[in-house]
Amino acid sequence: MAFDINTKILTVTDGQSLSAAATLAADVIRHGGLAVFPTETVYGLGADGTNAEAAQKIYAAKGRPSDNPLIIHIYDPKDAEPYSVTCSLYYALAEAFMPGPLTVIMPKKDTVPYSTTGGLDTVAVRCPSHPVAREIIKQAGVPVAAPSANLSGKPSPTAARHCIDDLAGRVDVIIDGGECDIGLESTIVKIDVDDGGEDYLTLLRPGAVTCDALRCVCPRVDIARAVSEQLAQDEKPLSPGMKYKHYAPRAPLVLLDGDGESILAFLQKRQSECRCAILCYDEEIPHLENKRLLPVGPRDDMKTQAHLLFSNLRLADSTDAEIIYAHLPPHTGLGLALYNRMIRAAAHTVLRLEK
Ligand code: TXA
Ligand code: MG
Repeated sequence: MAFDINTKILTVTDGQSLSAAATLAADVIRHGGLAVFPTETVYGLGADGTNAEAAQKIYAAKGRPSDNPLIIHIYDPKDAEPYSVTCSLYYALAEAFMPGPLTVIMPKKDTVPYSTTGGLDTVAVRCPSHPVAREIIKQAGVPVAAPSANLSGKPSPTAARHCIDDLAGRVDVIIDGGECDIGLESTIVKIDVDDGGEDYLTLLRPGAVTCDALRCVCPRVDIARAVSEQLAQDEKPLSPGMKYKHYAPRAPLVLLDGDGESILAFLQKRQSECRCAILCYDEEIPHLENKRLLPVGPRDDMKTQAHLLFSNLRLADSTDAEIIYAHLPPHTGLGLALYNRMIRAAAHTVLRLEK
C-alpha cells in the first residue's frame, strides 16, 4: 500500500486552537479517516470504532497485525452502554478512575465490528482525561478506536514529534498537544465472574492506575502472568498484544539490579570500555562521564521515570551505542508498569551486581 497522504499538522496552544483542531480531527474520524491526538497516557491513532473499514485503515497505517484488538475511547463512562455489556463493577471503576488512564474489557455488543476487536467477543473501553482527546471524542459523536500512534514495533509516542516521525504520510491529521503527562499506556483490566457469581478483575497491562488502587474498588485483582514473566513459546496470553514482539531498542538493553554503589562502579568501568548509553538517575550524573547519558529523573521519582521512558528509548536508538544500560525498576506501585515495559524491551536480560 502507498502511504502518500498529505498529513495536516495542527498545534494546540489555547482554547481557540483546541476547538479548531478538535473540529477538524472529529470531522476526519466521522468521515472514516485517521486522526492522531494526545491523551494523558500516550498519543493515540484514532478512527471511528463502529466503522470496520476505518478500523482496517488503522492496522494498515501502523503495520499492525489485524488480530490485535483496539481500545474504544468514549466521552462519558455511560457511553459504554451501546457497545459493551456493563456491570456494577464497571461503574465502580468508572467512579474511581474515569476520566483517566484505565481501560476495562467487557463483552462486546453487535454495534462494535469484529475488525475493531480483532475478532474477539470482548471490547476494551477507555474514557481519557486529556482535554484534546475529550473534545475530539465529544465532537466525533462515535466511539474512537485508537491504539498508540506509533509504527508497530516502535515505542509508544509521548510527543507529537514521535508521531510525525512514524506516521506522517499515513494519517490525515496529527494534533500536537505537547508532551503526554503520564508517558506509559493505560492500565488494562478484564472483568470476569468467579464460580460464586462475583465479579473480579484480571490485570492485563499495568499502568498509572496501580494494583493497590484497583484493590480499593475490587478486592480480587489477579495479575496475568505475562505482566511480569516471560511466557513459554506455546503459551496463549490473555491479551493478544502480549504475544507480539514488543519494542526493543536497536542495541541490546541490559537491566541492572543491585546496590547503588556496585551499579555506579560497573557503569564507570563500562564507560571506559565500550560505547554504552546509560539511562541514569539524576543523582548519578556528576559521577559519570557526560557521554550518551539519558537522565531518567531522581531515583525515587517513578512518575518522572515513567514520563521519560519511551522518549529516552527513542533517544538511545539515535546514539551510536552498542549496548544500553538501565536500572531494574521495582515491582511495586507505578514501578510495575515501568518494569513491565522495560523487561520486555530488554528481552528479560537482567544483570545482578553485588559488593
Ligand atoms: O493508554 C492507552 O491505552 C493508549 C491510548 C492511545 O489510549 N492506547 C493503547 O492502545 O495503548 P494499544 O492498541 O497500543 O494497546 C492496547 C492493548 C493491546 O495490547 C491489545 O492487545 C489489548 O490492549 N486489548 C485491546 N482489546 C482487548 C480485548 N478485547 N481483550 C484483550 N486485550 C485487548
Ligand atoms: Mg501500542
